[in-house]
Amino acid sequence: MNTNKKLNNGVLPSTIEVGEDSIVEIKNLVKNFPIGNDFFTALKGINLTFTEGEFAGLVGPSGSGKTTLLNIIGSLDVPSDGDVIVLSHSISNLTQKQAAQLRKEKLGFIFQNYNLLPVYTVYENVEFPLLLLDIGADERKKRVLETLEWVGLSDKIHSRPSQLSGGECQRVAIARAMVKRPSLVLADEPTANLDSENSHNVLQTMVKLNRELKTSFIFATHDDKVIGYLHRIIRLEDGKVVDDRPQTPTVSRFIGKSPMGDLNIPLLNTNSSDTNLGGAL
Ligand SMILES: Nc1ncnc2c1ncn2[C@@H]1O[C@H](COP(=O)(O)OP(=O)(O)O)[C@@H](O)[C@H]1O
Ligand SMILES: [Mg+2]
Repeated sequence: MNTNKKLNNGVLPSTIEVGEDSIVEIKNLVKNFPIGNDFFTALKGINLTFTEGEFAGLVGPSGSGKTTLLNIIGSLDVPSDGDVIVLSHSISNLTQKQAAQLRKEKLGFIFQNYNLLPVYTVYENVEFPLLLLDIGADERKKRVLETLEWVGLSDKIHSRPSQLSGGECQRVAIARAMVKRPSLVLADEPTANLDSENSHNVLQTMVKLNRELKTSFIFATHDDKVIGYLHRIIRLEDGKVVDDRPQTPTVSRFIGKSPMGDLNIPLLNTNSSDTNLGGAL
């Protein structure tokens, strides 16, 4: 059990003990949204565990609770009941500042609309999360260039989002999520605005990052193209988990045929202090 007191600052409390490989533990999670004098129950008692290296997806029809669950895992929202432990921190016990710190340091987010800063260049968009983490200029430059190389955008660093295709914008968003070397990336309908070729392209990028950096990914999606890449499919219906099963990805034949070629990602030492800087915008 967590015995940490709520601290009214952005310093993360000491961690709770969880299973060795566990990155997310969800116990009896209920989420109610107030509607007038009543409330709507969007999540009705969810129990799930995610372990390191996951490439998992929350799937199910629109309105089934995928985004609500992903937002709570990402500490963007809080449980009404039950407990959600993310990277050994209980979401319910964090102050808003501490939740922001958790997101900034340890989580990466990829959204349907990319959420890029339009007046910033590709380089500046990817550098932004590192500025929030107070990382020195030399290290920032090294990280940004390396991460843009991973996603195949080294030749676009001076472009602005309006000069890029949707697929390129989403790869900038992936780079922005990855530049802090987060332990966990949460992606909500990341292919919703992309055509088929660009969807496969960004998915291949994420598969390689998952394989080579061991970064965990949790998706919310109802796109069959995404579902084909998942290693684990968790089906939600009406706020409940109705199925949870491993999958052998059906589209692995695409790997290695990316139009951007081999990402050539160097293997990182996951025990190095580097990984403590991982996080999200
Ligand atoms: N802030 C909110 N207030 C009230 N109802 C909400 C709110 N957010 C989501 N819901 C409702 O919760 C249910 C699940 O929504 P959501 O998690 O967005 O589903 P999905 O991502 O699977 O489409 C839907 O019925 C939605 O209308
Ligand atoms: Mg949604």
